[in-house]
Amino acid sequence: MASRVVTVAFQGVEARRVDVEVQLTGGEMKFMLVGLGDKAVAESRERVRAAFAGLGLAMPSKRIIANLAPADLPKEGSHYDLPIALAVMAAMGILPPDALTEWAAMGELSLDGRIVGISGALPAAVAAGAMGLGLICPEASGAEAAWAGDTRILAAPSLIAVVNHFRGTQILSPPKPGPMMDGERVPDLRDVKGQENAKRALEIAAAGGHNLLFSGPPGSGKSMMAARLPGLLPPLSPTELLETSMVHSVAGLIAKGALTRTRPFRTPHHSASMAALTGGGLKVKPGEVSLAHNGVLFLDELPEFSSQALDSLRQPLETGEVVVARANAHVRYPARFQLVAAQNPCKCGMGGAGRGACGRAPRCQTDYQMKVSGPFMDRIDLQIDVPPVTAADLALPAPAEGTAEAAARVALARQLQADRAADTANGDGAPQRPGAGRFPGKDRRPGPGRSRPAGQGGRGWRADRARLDPHPAAGPDYRRP
Ligand SMILES: Nc1ncnc2c1ncn2[C@@H]1O[C@H](COP(=O)(O)OP(=O)(O)OP(=O)(O)O)[C@@H](O)[C@H]1O
Ligand SMILES: [Mg+2]
Repeated sequence: MASRVVTVAFQGVEARRVDVEVQLTGGEMKFMLVGLGDKAVAESRERVRAAFAGLGLAMPSKRIIANLAPADLPKEGSHYDLPIALAVMAAMGILPPDALTEWAAMGELSLDGRIVGISGALPAAVAAGAMGLGLICPEASGAEAAWAGDTRILAAPSLIAVVNHFRGTQILSPPKPGPMMDGERVPDLRDVKGQENAKRALEIAAAGGHNLLFSGPPGSGKSMMAARLPGLLPPLSPTELLETSMVHSVAGLIAKGALTRTRPFRTPHHSASMAALTGGGLKVKPGEVSLAHNGVLFLDELPEFSSQALDSLRQPLETGEVVVARANAHVRYPARFQLVAAQNPCKCGMGGAGRGACGRAPRCQTDYQMKVSGPFMDRIDLQIDVPPVTAADLALPAPAEGTAEAAARVALARQLQADRAADTANGDGAPQRPGAGRFPGKDRRPGPGRSRPAGQGGRGWRADRARLDPHPAAGPDYRRP
């Protein structure tokens, strides 16, 4: 009879159920692994063998067949080591036959039998909970998995610890969720002298989740102001925090189970490739647009990005998700982000006006700006000219208002908008602006079918069972109505 252990395969941030079935049959001693695994999965056999040897256990002198079902679902990564090892142990009778029926397992094995941390523990734990199962995961991933609501988590340091737990000789205690962090300190808007129009535009963009472009000569403070945007944005709501953390978990960016309440602010360099921005590559990983989900993607020196890379952002800007096409599957990642960009008016920097104006104006300016396509620019709601900062501006005393005052106005504006959207949803007859109440990266233009039904962030990457509301005093909840 075959033994069976449940694990998961990642498709985007969705964790799909995979059954690891192991059967021992008579015949030549051989370990076969089937079920559309990649190279890391194929190498599991060697790590499992070595981990058994590390524990002083002999592999059965039989033909071992391990099948990862469903066989047509592609499987990537090293987290199949632990479920395969546990299924072999169950087939050998080392574990009681029904010990693992209520658990899913994931983890990479080292050669001495330790279980090494893996990425994706949070979505795996959420998926296991949805299947009515607990999750056995590496000790290093336990604090991250523990954020997944009431899913039972068993965080084991080694294969022998799992065996001892199920044989009742050494019970493992459930892990605690990691800390909730506030993110890095953001510089204050008070440092920016003058530039009142640009600062006002930044505040409006923060309040409405609008895409924003600063255009101006070098040294006018464009990058400086953009870097201050995270300080104006409200913290992530519990639902947004879960969505964003799922993406960061799959990308392996959650350290020691610590989640960050501050909205992501991603600043890819202009040499970034299309795959780096939208996701993909040899092993599919979320790109910058997905790592900026529910936050800001800042593209400094916009025309210096390759036009192919920029145009690949048009679809996620429109739909709030990105679809990466692979040879054998399409992978979806959430990508609802606010775009902030900065550019000089021309290659020489100064554009065609004022002191130090470009000698090749207006040709130089036109050529430079032609590098960014019209449809891409069409997706940027606020396009602001930032004038050069004068010596007189720099000599001014620090402005009376800084990040704290602007952030308070932003929070108030967002609350008003959320209330207005809620009233409209309740049928008070007031006209609803397209995308109202959805921040950031709201739908861009009116039109039927652009907005998703309320509460649906695309496909299945939301789960409302997570224990992500330990800080109810963290400010108003900006959940979409
Ligand atoms: N309005 C301002 N108030 C105070 N300091 C400023 C201001 N504008 C620029 N600076 C100073 O100049 C430096 C350069 O500014 P910043 O890098 O933001 O310019 P930029 O517009 O992004 O230029 P570039 O086009 O070369 O990227 C800042 O670090 C800051 O010290
Ligand atoms: Mg700059």
